[in-house]
Amino acid sequence: MLKTFVNLIVLCSLFLAAVVSSKHHGNPADDLVELINMNRTAHKLPELSNSPGLGCVALQCAEECQANCTSDNAINCHPSADDFTEIFAPNCGVELPTFGTISGHVVGCHHKDLTPSEAFSNVLFRDKKSFSLLGNRSHNEVGIGIFRAHKHKGPYLWCVLFSSSQTNTTFVLDDLGRGIKQIKGCYSGLSDACSRQNRNTDQASYVNICVMLFIIFFLSTSLR
Ligand SMILES: *[C@@H]1O[C@H](CO)[C@@H](O)[C@H](O)[C@H]1NC(C)=O
Ligand SMILES: *[C@@H]1O[C@H](CO)[C@@H](O)[C@H](O)[C@H]1NC(C)=O
Ligand SMILES: *[C@@H]1O[C@H](CO)[C@@H](O)[C@H](O)[C@H]1NC(C)=O
Ligand SMILES: *[C@@H]1O[C@H](CO)[C@@H](O)[C@H](O)[C@H]1NC(C)=O
Repeated sequence: MLKTFVNLIVLCSLFLAAVVSSKHHGNPADDLVELINMNRTAHKLPELSNSPGLGCVALQCAEECQANCTSDNAINCHPSADDFTEIFAPNCGVELPTFGTISGHVVGCHHKDLTPSEAFSNVLFRDKKSFSLLGNRSHNEVGIGIFRAHKHKGPYLWCVLFSSSQTNTTFVLDDLGRGIKQIKGCYSGLSDACSRQNRNTDQASYVNICVMLFIIFFLSTSLR
């Protein structure tokens, strides 16, 4: 019985380690920026710099569009220029005088949580129009936000913002570049910009599975 118990502990820790490392090794918004830059360099275009200020604004854009995702994963959502400067920038702590020029945006949604490469080719850059936007020479920076409308299910919303403004002097976040902490979602440009809240609940549910396994184990041995 002790042996089974030890085996169970080992299994559970392996399981947890695997889950934690597979699910939380990176930020999917940063992975998407990497895919965009790989695609651009493959077409001999310069890489875009990954701007956290623009990324946070993109997260606000994704959040604003959450009600506009249809059941067949289509979306029609066009936040106004005023929304960008009057709502999104202040919500992020982007210093308003540094708000640059948005030279393109792509919004997409899906009811399933897709991998970054699925989101890239099946949601964001699947038609000619968005693909030509991806290869536009006037962009200098990019920011991506990913928002999940409900705690444990979709729809998931992606917003990609391109800017033609000069890198490093635009979309500056206050509080020494930290800006205002976001409670929900993920955005690109900071190494760890997925909200902690989401992560902890995900990990907690796997811990719960292990606790359940232990309870079942003890019940079954005590009934013997
Ligand atoms: C979302 O859809 C509604 C209803 O079609 C529309 O009135 C609204 O403008 C859309 N939101 C945005 C930000 O485009
Ligand atoms: C690239 O974007 C700029 C700014 O948005 C636009 O004026 C221009 O027409 C675009 N170029 C192409 C080739 O689509
Ligand atoms: C770039 O993205 C487009 C649109 O998804 C895709 O058709 C093309 O194959 C990609 N190119 C490379 C080199 O990844
Ligand atoms: C922007 O800042 C980064 C890091 O501070 C630096 O490596 C990069 O050269 C700067 N880019 C421009 C265009 O100034």
